[in-house]
Amino acid sequence: MFKGVILAGGLGTRLYPLTKVTSKHLLPVGNEPMIYHSVKRLTTAGITDILIVTNPEYVADFVSALGSGKEFGCEFTYRVQEEAKGIAHALALAEGFAAGGRIVVLLGDNIFETSIRQAVKDFQAQQGGARVLLKQVSDPERYGVATLNGERIVAIEEKPEHPKSDYAVVGAYFYDATVFDVIRTVEPSARGEYEITAVNNVYIQRDELEYSLVHGKWVDAGTFESLTEAHQILLDSTD
Ligand code: G1P
Repeated sequence: MFKGVILAGGLGTRLYPLTKVTSKHLLPVGNEPMIYHSVKRLTTAGITDILIVTNPEYVADFVSALGSGKEFGCEFTYRVQEEAKGIAHALALAEGFAAGGRIVVLLGDNIFETSIRQAVKDFQAQQGGARVLLKQVSDPERYGVATLNGERIVAIEEKPEHPKSDYAVVGAYFYDATVFDVIRTVEPSARGEYEITAVNNVYIQRDELEYSLVHGKWVDAGTFESLTEAHQILLDSTD
């Protein structure tokens, strides 16, 4: 089975003062710290070898909250992202952990109402390449936005002012082992970050990017409003 990576860096400035003493990924959502959700989305999909990437400020809190993984039926490895240079930059830290295998990557602030099991199976059935998950949203300008042509994604734009569709690329990514070579080719964006969207666009150019649709609700819990929504989704979720 693939290994899993949960990206849980960042200072959560949009959630200040809730993030004054700890990471947003450890704030309560439903009845648990937020990161438990990502861990369970991976373990219930059969992924039990999990890397947590966090920042130096909060790494000790993550180790206190998650421990070895025994409680979750999995095994955790921890890595520290010294500089906040974007999602692709954080993912680069997973290269040794991945050890030449495929990986499933979750952003630790993305909350899903339903399991990612089917997407994992779809990725298993894939020869190689990558897979992203899409969700139709009312505010696509906040996200990576996919332009579709029939069954194919032909482009992804990061936070476009004038989105070409309402399909957000959510924070769950499936990559083959070439992703680390791809990351090395990416240049920082205008906001100074190594964007995961740039990585996904390389897979599009190679005609190696597939997608699945997210069933049920999805939220990026990075703001007060979306954190409240995430809370409700998890209290209601039965999957
Ligand atoms: C990131 C990605 C974006 C994606 C989003 C999902 O944005 O860059 O493509 O749609 O996560 O949560 P961020 O929340 O880091 O601004």
